[in-house]
Amino acid sequence: MKLLKILLLGLLVLFALVIIGFNVWGAVTLGSLTPDPDAQRDASANRVVMVFGATGSVGDGLLKAAMEDEEVEQIYALTRRMSPRLEQGKASGRVTVIEHQDFTDYSELSATLSSVNTVLWGLGASSIGMDPELYRHIHVDFPIAFVEAWMETSGAAPRAFHYVTGMGTGEGESARWARDKGEAERRVAEMSRGTPLRTFGHRSAWVRPTDENAGVAIYLGEALLKPGHLVIRGIDLGRAMLEISARTDELASGTLIDNRDAIEYAAAYRRYKGIE
Ligand SMILES: NC(=O)c1ccc[n+]([C@@H]2O[C@H](COP(=O)([O-])OP(=O)(O)OC[C@H]3O[C@@H](n4cnc5c(N)ncnc54)[C@H](OP(=O)(O)O)[C@@H]3O)[C@@H](O)[C@H]2O)c1
Repeated sequence: MKLLKILLLGLLVLFALVIIGFNVWGAVTLGSLTPDPDAQRDASANRVVMVFGATGSVGDGLLKAAMEDEEVEQIYALTRRMSPRLEQGKASGRVTVIEHQDFTDYSELSATLSSVNTVLWGLGASSIGMDPELYRHIHVDFPIAFVEAWMETSGAAPRAFHYVTGMGTGEGESARWARDKGEAERRVAEMSRGTPLRTFGHRSAWVRPTDENAGVAIYLGEALLKPGHLVIRGIDLGRAMLEISARTDELASGTLIDNRDAIEYAAAYRRYKGIE
């Protein structure tokens, strides 16, 4: 019994040390961008928003942010299936749901794509247990096919493409998933050169699910990771994206947004909108 107690205490201490270590690391290394307090905002920069991955944990927060923003006049969600928020958005007329199966083919959608200003891309999957070729197809081929198709349509400007890639992404990393996503970030940025499109890779840490999908364990996790800027609420990630889009002259295409940067832009968004 005593041995068990010692073992449990040891595990607890180890857990605490790991959490403290992560937080110190996050506090020291994250955050390279500071939102300009006097930034010019283009209120029409997010007039038409398209959301990908809305049925997922991240995408649900992105969709919620777009739905709550009064500057967003039209929301399209490209999806294979419905979610409670998509049902709600569809029923209220706030969201136009487009059922879509092949995310490498947008040939039927050029008229819709031509009106889109901002894309919130939360489509993706875990690399754990997934065939590496399929992982690459989803995280490289899908976004590149979309950006190609979008760029072939003229119309709405400005335009911004926000891709949630995740912390640890980078072409120089050892993990294949990280290199694949890093390559996608680079290639869409290269495609945007000399055009009105700006692309952003969001190297988010833990994206906390929306309140509707959060329980005690989620809130506890949030509290534990907050000091090191290692968690962002999904809705705040969406707000950060909308804020970056609206600041049309602030960040160059290809800028990589880490978790702390996104927290800062979400705070700027909330200040501007008067949200607590
Ligand atoms: N969750 C986090 O804390 C976090 C942090 C940093 C980065 N990210 C990244 O964000 C992305 C989304 O993560 P998540 O946690 O939201 O995952 P999730 O809850 O599993 O949601 C994945 C979303 O992507 C869609 N999707 C997946 N495979 C697809 C395919 N082959 N074709 C069409 N749609 C597909 C899913 O649609 P269906 O519902 O139709 O399957 C769903 O909408 C991933 O790339 C992940 O690495 C997540």
